[in-house]
Amino acid sequence: MALGIVELNGRLHDRAGFDCGNEALNRYLRSLATQHRLKGIATTFVLVESDEPARVLGFYALSAAALALENLAQADRKGLPAYPVPAVRIGRLAVSLAARQRGFGELLLQNAVRRVLAARGALGVCALVVEAKDATAERFYRKYGFRLCAGEVRQLYLPLGVG
Ligand SMILES: CC(C)(COP(=O)(O)OP(=O)(O)OC[C@H]1O[C@@H](n2cnc3c(N)ncnc32)[C@H](O)[C@@H]1OP(=O)(O)O)[C@@H](O)C(=O)NCCC(=O)NCCS
Repeated sequence: MALGIVELNGRLHDRAGFDCGNEALNRYLRSLATQHRLKGIATTFVLVESDEPARVLGFYALSAAALALENLAQADRKGLPAYPVPAVRIGRLAVSLAARQRGFGELLLQNAVRRVLAARGALGVCALVVEAKDATAERFYRKYGFRLCAGEVRQLYLPLGVG
């Protein structure tokens, strides 16, 4: 089985068949993701397997964002300009219930980081930002180095460093 992470294609991918157990996230994929792509609000990427290319195993959505300097830890502010820094928001990230605990969440997150680092060839990005929907999601992101934004409850950031 070969896995791939590609941009969501409404004509190819079975959006209605996706179930991650969270109705808001299911609905996003089903009804909003394509509209958001057309309007330049977010771009969604889906994890699929070559044998069943229509079946969505997981997805994430990216949008441009800005992060106030005060949200960053002192150490992460070093050398940055004194105005909001460019960031990319992972608006949604989910794995279908049937595909959990197989490393797909980690795979999607790694792919998002790589994609955003590659985008540095075209525009500046300092950090990834995410709004964890609950304490469990927060633990998931913290595991990969995300840090809580100062003054925020569930907003986390991942500094992308130099390079
Ligand atoms: C969070 C989520 C994406 C993880 O997907 P997954 O494919 O099951 O995760 P992985 O198999 O890649 O697991 C990666 C690591 O995260 C841990 N992990 C998995 N789900 C987790 C969760 N809900 N909370 C905390 N840690 C979690 C795993 O134990 C694993 O760590 P380990 O290697 O030390 O065991 C998935 O549970 C999900 O879609 N949840 C509903 C939507 C959601 O909460 N999205 C995130 C915020 S919007």
